[in-house]
Amino acid sequence: MNAPTELKWAKKYPELGTGPVPVESCISPEFYEIEREKVFMKTWLKVGRVEEIENVGDYKVKKLGFAKTSIILIRGKDQKIRGFHNACSHRGNKVVVETGEETFGKSKAAVVTCRFHGWVYNAEGALVNVPEEEKFSPCFTREENDLTKVHTDIWEGFIFVNLDPAPEVTPLKEYLGDMGKHLSNFPYDKLTKCFSYYTYLDCNWKVAHDAFAEAYHVSTIHAGSFPNAFSSGLSDVQLMGPHRTTAICLSLKNEPTPVAKIANSLAAVSLVSKRGASMLPPSINPSRREDFSFELSVFFPNLLVHVAENIWFTHQFWPMGPGKTLWEGKYYLAEPKTNSQRWALEFAQCLQRNAWLEDTGTMEDTQIAMESGAKKFMHLQDEEILIRHGYHTLENFIHSK
Ligand code: FES
Ligand SMILES: [Fe+2]
Repeated sequence: MNAPTELKWAKKYPELGTGPVPVESCISPEFYEIEREKVFMKTWLKVGRVEEIENVGDYKVKKLGFAKTSIILIRGKDQKIRGFHNACSHRGNKVVVETGEETFGKSKAAVVTCRFHGWVYNAEGALVNVPEEEKFSPCFTREENDLTKVHTDIWEGFIFVNLDPAPEVTPLKEYLGDMGKHLSNFPYDKLTKCFSYYTYLDCNWKVAHDAFAEAYHVSTIHAGSFPNAFSSGLSDVQLMGPHRTTAICLSLKNEPTPVAKIANSLAAVSLVSKRGASMLPPSINPSRREDFSFELSVFFPNLLVHVAENIWFTHQFWPMGPGKTLWEGKYYLAEPKTNSQRWALEFAQCLQRNAWLEDTGTMEDTQIAMESGAKKFMHLQDEEILIRHGYHTLENFIHSK
């Protein structure tokens, strides 16, 4: 179907069409299995930040429930971060005991030790000590029993892994392509004060993604946290291969609350404060428009990265089943220098937390209504182009495999 000319984004990206989008991929267990195997087991997935494992021997274990595995990320004596499956070569136990979705540890010697029988692996994954080694058969060699490596690569301090033993697109920089360039040269490493949240949602990971990929819902869903604060229209939309990006702008008519005004004067760290553009790379808000609030970018498949002056934040959606998702939200700011700045930061993050509660509040209802079978399609308006691109990309990606 040809796009009516007044539909700005449909006109720019006619290949996406304008028709209804089937909901089947959000509710079908069969589609979930295909997606797991062809997308999540094969693409680059963000699993951490370099600051989380800053010193030699620091490690992080990240559960990847969809793959029934967890990954040890450890910084070696050569400062390199490597990734391994958290599975022992002896009898397959997890080497590092997990305490949650993310587990952190330190080892001065830069080793990890399996708690079951004490096998020790160094940060290169080599098996370096086996208690009672002489009692194993002469055929057993340590050299053949390293930890299983996982392809691990870093972009702008973000640690990504690819579970495919032979990734189709490598290195990571190539996978991220123009989107990697678009979001480079932002001071992620300077804004390291992190407010982090996660929850399990009874919805498909795409339902969760979609709720964060448009501004159409802001005036209704965020009437409490951000009343009349944002424009529903997108700006500077760019589709870059499987990835996508847009600017989200403020509604300048909006008058902040008296408390927000005080907070903004102490530290401009809320999405609704006007903050300038000194940190933004030239590709973001290229015209330096006054009402720019933040760039909303999606790295295929499951990572949203948002950048703005003084702030950056991420959402990630981990599939746990056809109707189950782990959502992680992380909001990053500069460390406060004074108590009043600290208060302004807390105010900003409370606003953001409330907004995210409002966002996550829709998802389970969407899922259950989709599963009722009452509606077979969803209808997307022009400003929901990122969602349309998401389904389009997924279909193409799966069918090209
Ligand atoms: S399973 Fe790890 S040492 Fe035995
Ligand atoms: Fe929202």
